[in-house]
Amino acid sequence: MGTTVVTGGAGFIGSNYVRHLIQHTDDDVIVLDAMTYAANESSLAGLPGQRVRLVRGDIADAEVVDAVVKGADVVVHFAAESHNDNSLNDPSPFIQTNLVGTFNLLEAVRRHEVRYHHISTDEVYGDLELDDPNRFQETTPYRPSSPYSASKAGSDHLVRAWVRSFDVRATISNCSNNYGPRQHVEKFIPRQITNVIDGVRPRLYGAGLNVRDWIHVDDHNSAVLAIVERGRIGETYLIGADGEMDNKSVIQMILRLMGADEHAYDHVNDRPGHDLRYAIDSTKLRTELGWAPQYRNFEEGLAATIDWYRRNEAWWRPMKAATEAKYAKTGQ
Ligand SMILES: NC(=O)c1ccc[n+]([C@@H]2O[C@H](COP(=O)([O-])OP(=O)(O)OC[C@H]3O[C@@H](n4cnc5c(N)ncnc54)[C@H](O)[C@@H]3O)[C@@H](O)[C@H]2O)c1
Repeated sequence: MGTTVVTGGAGFIGSNYVRHLIQHTDDDVIVLDAMTYAANESSLAGLPGQRVRLVRGDIADAEVVDAVVKGADVVVHFAAESHNDNSLNDPSPFIQTNLVGTFNLLEAVRRHEVRYHHISTDEVYGDLELDDPNRFQETTPYRPSSPYSASKAGSDHLVRAWVRSFDVRATISNCSNNYGPRQHVEKFIPRQITNVIDGVRPRLYGAGLNVRDWIHVDDHNSAVLAIVERGRIGETYLIGADGEMDNKSVIQMILRLMGADEHAYDHVNDRPGHDLRYAIDSTKLRTELGWAPQYRNFEEGLAATIDWYRRNEAWWRPMKAATEAKYAKTGQ
């Protein structure tokens, strides 16, 4: 396809996407990343320098964005402030990056007629009751609950408006919760794994009944590439791998897989406004584009992820203490 710009390519999903592109395409990649606390340059270690270039820059800066997008063939936009808890403490960077940043990218791809894919989340749909037989579909109305999900919802609306008003060649995907290598230790699964490695009891928000629909990051990324290559312009695709599980069961599974007592965790304050359940119906993606997840067994994917964190302590150790200090302030 030529040159793909991957915004947020030094973060969790973006860096795994860069690896996916290098393995499965002939594309050259420009990573545009502001290198915030969530980025890790070593996530790009070992990639071929002649195909991957890192540009440090803020997507809220229109000039930087224009210079990078000009001459590219595709932009895949992962960059975001991505952590719900942070958005409750200080929503301001979420507005700048997720809304203003997306606006700048849309203006640049419009100006230079570049194909654009927008990465979003199922959290834009709000939450479901535990016993609701329905799952989220592309037609589900938007009902975001947190500053994070509201900023992502707003960015999705911008993309749709730019398609309709300016004929920008864009697609959108909304994915469920990802897990896998290179995820920041502030996030639920890596936080618990690294706590157990450190001999600290995992922390469960509230009663732990909240259900998430887990997908391995490599499955998310194979779906994104399928949409970039074969998706219909203007369409939205939901990405999910039928991985519903409540948070308490995930913690117990981590403890078991790590050889610890599965009851050795503590309950802490719940997140304000904590969404109860997310669940994705990915029929459209599967039938239209023939996509299927490779990680069909969550326990196996989780065991592989635990193994990665055990073998890559140098990757996560530098951010662990500061992350726990932040949580200590809210009693979580
Ligand atoms: N993690 C999940 O479970 C999940 C699920 C569905 C969708 N998503 C979406 O996927 C995308 C990637 O999520 P992630 O978990 O990899 O996030 P992450 O926090 O690990 O990485 C975000 C990256 O974006 C960069 N960034 C932040 N602000 C920037 C700015 N102003 N300019 C340039 N770069 C900036 C950061 O430095 C970081 O490298 C986000 O859009 C998120 O909303 C995530």
